[in-house]
Amino acid sequence: MPALQINPSILAADVGHLYDACKRCEDAGADQIHIDLMDGVFVPNMSFSPSVVEMARKAVDIPLNVHLMMVRPDQYVDAFCDAGADTLLVHIEPEYDHADTLRRIRERGVRPGIVLNPDTELLDIESVLPLVDEVLFMTVFPGFGGQDFIPGPLARMQELRDRFPDLDIAVDGGLNPETCQRCFDHGANGFDIGSALFKPKDMAAEIQKLRRMSSNA
Ligand code: DX5
Ligand code: ZN
Repeated sequence: MPALQINPSILAADVGHLYDACKRCEDAGADQIHIDLMDGVFVPNMSFSPSVVEMARKAVDIPLNVHLMMVRPDQYVDAFCDAGADTLLVHIEPEYDHADTLRRIRERGVRPGIVLNPDTELLDIESVLPLVDEVLFMTVFPGFGGQDFIPGPLARMQELRDRFPDLDIAVDGGLNPETCQRCFDHGANGFDIGSALFKPKDMAAEIQKLRRMSSNA
């Protein structure tokens, strides 16, 4: 299994202090910063823009893991690559040319990833699996932080891990130490975490707690 990745999601940060929030994640020992982009159409909310990715790029040296919740992510590949994304994650559910988009991301020297909503079957991503470095399972319906974990995707995570021992398999939504452990036990190695990392005072302590997960399994 690939290395554990603990990725704070700055959707949970104070929007007035995003630069400091990125620094706080890096200082606390985060592996990547997870940045959520919402277009108000694919999900009923709006969030950041390429300029926020650019800001994060200036703030920290750790990789930027950029999650596009958009109906037309294909139209924004260059904008987010130019802004400094290290991983660009696009959803399988909307209609656009997924394969071409993932190829274009890789051509830009950025890691391509595919994202599945909690009710999306593995079969739907089968044809694009050879094109991605990361598969991200949503364990909430995307759009908002602070929602309850949905366990449905756990079995799919395990099935994918059994088939691809070296693939980065990440999970996003409703994560806390207990739900992270459940996902870890089902083969996930990447954890995108909003509320459970930003609410506690000591983010470094929370991240260290999560790193002990591997030895519990
Ligand atoms: C949800 C976003 C998540 C969000 C997770 O649509 O994709 O990255 O920040 O927040 P929590 O950890 O609070 O569920
Ligand atoms: Zn996300």
